[in-house]
Amino acid sequence: MFKLFEATAINGMQLANRFVRSATWEGMAAEDGSCTPRLMEIMTKLARGGVGLIITSHAYVRKDGQAGVLQLGIYKDEFIDDLRGLTSAIHNTSSRIVLQIAHAGYFANPKLTGQMPLALSQVEGYSKSPRKEMTMEEIQDIVKAFGHAARRSKEAGFDGV
Ligand SMILES: Cc1cc2nc3c(=O)[nH]c(=O)nc-3n(C[C@H](O)[C@H](O)[C@H](O)COP(=O)(O)O)c2cc1C
Repeated sequence: MFKLFEATAINGMQLANRFVRSATWEGMAAEDGSCTPRLMEIMTKLARGGVGLIITSHAYVRKDGQAGVLQLGIYKDEFIDDLRGLTSAIHNTSSRIVLQIAHAGYFANPKLTGQMPLALSQVEGYSKSPRKEMTMEEIQDIVKAFGHAARRSKEAGFDGV
């Protein structure tokens, strides 16, 4: 039990304790996926409460990878400044914050993305809903989108992705 309160490190990231807020979608980002004061407030409260590491909710790396409403996004450079505000607020405490980067793929919401979800194949999975089978090139494009998202996260001051 007491170990929970001991400092530790993950790959060089120093943590004040072993409490981790697991990635949890809050539905508090703006409609375009940008960070809002409300989202910043809840994160700051968690940090002030003493949690060692915050993992943000899943942030979509490309617009066609949005899974749900008011989900955090990391698909364009314009979001970096606001996210830097968030990481600075967290770094004023002893907490660390990493960004969960994601593309919902087959589980993207066509009502939000305006297009058919992308999938690896036409093989029926959880449902029979329509999906577009990706080409190898399209898969590589998504890999690149993750790379760009990771670079944005670094520029925004996150401790990791
Ligand atoms: C409302 C809600 C939103 C969640 N959002 C995410 C998410 O964005 N990313 C993720 O990896 N897991 C997400 N999860 C899963 C949680 O992080 C967690 O793994 C799950 O609730 C199981 O944790 P537990 O065993 O402590 O209940 C979400 C769960 C809930 C209930």
